[in-house]
Amino acid sequence: MDASRALPLPLAGEGRGEGTAPATTLTPTLAREREREQDQALLRAEALNQYYGGSHILRSVSLEARSGEVTVVLGRNGVGKTTLLKSLMGVVPVRSGQVLFDGVDIARETPYQRARRGIGYVPQGREIFSRLTVAENLAMGLAYRPGSTKLPPELFELFPVLKQMLHRRGGDLSGGQQQQLAIARALAAGPRLLVLDEPTEGIQPSIIKDIGRVIRMLADTGLPIEGQPRRMAIVLVEQYYDFAEELADRYCVMERGEIVQQGRGADMAAEGARARMSI
Ligand SMILES: Nc1ncnc2c1ncn2[C@@H]1O[C@H](COP(=O)(O)OP(=O)(O)OP(=O)(O)O)[C@@H](O)[C@H]1O
Ligand SMILES: [Mg+2]
Repeated sequence: MDASRALPLPLAGEGRGEGTAPATTLTPTLAREREREQDQALLRAEALNQYYGGSHILRSVSLEARSGEVTVVLGRNGVGKTTLLKSLMGVVPVRSGQVLFDGVDIARETPYQRARRGIGYVPQGREIFSRLTVAENLAMGLAYRPGSTKLPPELFELFPVLKQMLHRRGGDLSGGQQQQLAIARALAAGPRLLVLDEPTEGIQPSIIKDIGRVIRMLADTGLPIEGQPRRMAIVLVEQYYDFAEELADRYCVMERGEIVQQGRGADMAAEGARARMSI
């Protein structure tokens, strides 16, 4: 999808085409950075094992996410998708395995340390602070950003409704508005990797479309927060197959704590990923 056409925004990539401009228009440093991004995954989780009590929940799960790409994780209820994301974020400890972010193993770091490194998390169920205002919820996201106290105005271009509702309490927003707030809160910290857990759950179709456009744009061009925009890596956990297929650059399917199938997003349909979801 061409997000720069779909979104009426002063996008990060403006003047550079759709995030795939020829190297001649990039500074040498940026061009080198792009090349490196293409060879190397920003996130590489390797052989993660996780248990709740005696139950083996993640069974040697490996996952990669690259800048500029949406990596979709599909799977039915209870297969371990949320546990995988919590393990990436450090919300639950892993028994074994590595989580490499930009080449550094962060598997023993706290969620706060991981967020400060540039990983944004949009949890399942959104986890908005219902008694705090929209502005205060966004400020919580800013707290993960080294040295920053000001909300990036680009967030309100992405989600204009949040600007209108700045002083409303989080709990008074609709489900869709809360989801947009949860994404904006994660973006306020200026992440390089954004991890989203079922952002379409219980949300009306028009807002699902908006969220899809935003996700595509974040991967293609990034947000122009503080200088050069950087394409983001996205990990998207979903059960809504059509939404996942539309966005996926790469996909994997989980069953009972294991990744049982993976490939390129373009091949998802041909490889029968939908059937794995519908039993
Ligand atoms: N805190 C916990 N303590 C014990 N078992 C848990 C805990 N959280 C999840 N589980 C179990 O671990 C398994 C994986 O749960 P998880 O929430 O990761 O699945 P999921 O794929 O995200 O499911 P859903 O699609 O419903 O969100 C399930 O069997 C679940 O019941
Ligand atoms: Mg879940």
